[in-house]
Formats: sequence, structure tokens, C-alpha cells
Amino acid sequence: MEAAIPVLLWVNFASSMALFGGCGFRLLAPERAAAAAIDPVLRCILIGAAVLALLGALALLGVEAAAMADDWSAAVDPDTVGDVLTSTTFGQVWVWRLILGALAVAAAVRLGPHWAVLGLAVPLLATLALTGHAAMGEGVPGLFHRANQMVHLLAAGAWLGGLIPLALLVRRAQAGRAGTEPVLRRFSAYGTVAVLLILASGCVNTFALIDPLSGLFSTPYGNVLLAKLALVASMIGIALVNRLILLPSLSAREGEAVARLRRSLAIEIVAGALVLAAASLLGTLAPAIA
Ligand code: HEM
Repeated sequence: MEAAIPVLLWVNFASSMALFGGCGFRLLAPERAAAAAIDPVLRCILIGAAVLALLGALALLGVEAAAMADDWSAAVDPDTVGDVLTSTTFGQVWVWRLILGALAVAAAVRLGPHWAVLGLAVPLLATLALTGHAAMGEGVPGLFHRANQMVHLLAAGAWLGGLIPLALLVRRAQAGRAGTEPVLRRFSAYGTVAVLLILASGCVNTFALIDPLSGLFSTPYGNVLLAKLALVASMIGIALVNRLILLPSLSAREGEAVARLRRSLAIEIVAGALVLAAASLLGTLAPAIA
């Protein structure tokens, strides 16, 4: 039962981030005509992300009910599921996530990449901060930790989810139908803000959940966080190569540089998925507080 929780957390994180960042960067992309041309494919991806967010939320609710009753059949038992929804903090947050998920599916089907979808994706992603370790504290420090975790999730979603429309725009550019440079320049500015927010909020999280810091090396929680940091460092390295090496070489050798860019974006997306796997595992391990 416990093994299903990190898997479902990953589904909830990945789908909500794809919806938020996928919609967000498309709406902020320069060159409206080129951006609009990716809409049919992006719309399908956003619908898929919204459906997955809703199904992932339903599945995690079932697993929480099963874990509470220590019996798999409780996952579909209306009384136990009703108890979880009404008598636990997780359940009260989850009612909103289910409503938001259902609205997001309807909005993505009807509107595709649209401000209304983005408006639903923000609370869908941010509410995940209200059920993890960040939600353990009380009073002002507790509120601060929850707000910090919302910033962490939204900034991470902006970066990872934004890679989806970026990859679609670069693919289109490779087919010779649009310039890649303005899109990359915009993503690079957008990504820099997101990375700075991720690093700042990630450090706050680390100080709140690892005390003393030697727990980074001596506890399973700290070790998983170190693995996550190594993956994040590799993602930042790839983003720097894109910005400092591939972007300047675009005008001289557009075809070859765009092909390399596509490969490096694919690697960045895989590394991002692994970072989310590490974050999902952290959510189920005991924080390293002595
Ligand atoms: C691409 C970069 C990153 C992504 C996608 C990411 C993603 C996430 C996600 C999805 C969570 C779970 C939030 C929740 O449970 O509500 C999380 C938590 C966390 N992150 Fe990150 N993160 C990134 C970078 C970082 C960095 C650079 C640090 C440290 C400096 C960091 C430290 C943490 C810590 C300590 C937690 C708390 C985990 C827990 O609840 O036990 N993250 N991150």
C-alpha cells in the first residue's frame, strides 16, 4: 500500500506541473503565430495532463482510504472514503483538488491553452503544498513553510512544464517554419526567474526539514535530497549549455544547433521527471530532524 503513495505523488506532481507550465509558457511565448501553430498538439497534451491530474487525485484518495483502514477494499468503500474526505486535513484539501481537476479537464477540452486553464492549474498545483511535510507546522512558521512550498511547486512547474511547449516550438523551428532564437531567449529569461525561486525555496525547505545539516549525509531523507540536488545541478548545466553555447550558434548553423537543442531538451525533461521521482520519495520519508 505504502509503495503506491510515491508513485501516485509523482503522477499528481507531474500532471499538475505539465498543465501549469505547459499552458503558462505557451501564453507567454513571443511570436503569437508560431505559438498558436503548436496549439492542436499542446491542447491534447493539456487535456491528457488534466485527466491524469484528476485520475491521480482520485487514486491517491483511494490509497489513503485503504492505508487508513489497512485494507485495500476500503479504497472503493464510500464510508471510508467519505471519512477521509471529511475528517482529515488531506481530505479537506483533496475535495478542492478533485473539483479543480474536474474543472481543468472541462476547460482544457473546451479552450485548450487559455488563461482560464492556467487560472485553474495554479491552485491545482499549489494545493499540493498543503498535504506534504510543509503542512506539518503550526502558527506563523507553519504558514510561512506552506507559502514557501507553494512557491517551490509553482516555480518548478513553470520550468518543467514550460519545457513541453518549448520542445514543440523547437520541433516546429527544425521543420524550418519559425525562428528558434526569440523563443529560446524568452524561455531563458523565464527559466532564470523560475530557477532562482526554486533554489531559494528549496534552501528554505532544506533548513526546515534537515536539522542538523549533517543529516544530509547520515539519513535516508538526506541522501535522497542529495541525489535530487545532483539531478537539479545536471538540469541547470544543460540549461546553461543551451543558453550559452547552443543559442549563440543558432544563427550560424541553425539546422545542426536546433537538432542538438532538441536532444538536450529531451535529456532535460527526463532529468526533470527523475527530480520529481526523488521529490515524491522525500514526501514519504521521515524528515531528518534530530
Ligand atoms: C528542478 C528543480 C526542482 C523540482 C522540480 C523540485 C520539486 C519538488 C517537489 C515536487 C516537491 C514536493 C512538494 C510537496 O510535497 O508539496 C519538492 C520538495 C522539496 N524540495 Fe524540491 N524541487 C527542485 C529543486 C530543489 C532544490 C534545488 C532543493 C534544495 C536546495 C529542493 C529541496 C526540496 C525539499 C527539502 C523538499 C521537501 C520535501 C518534503 O516534503 O519532505 N528542491 N521539490
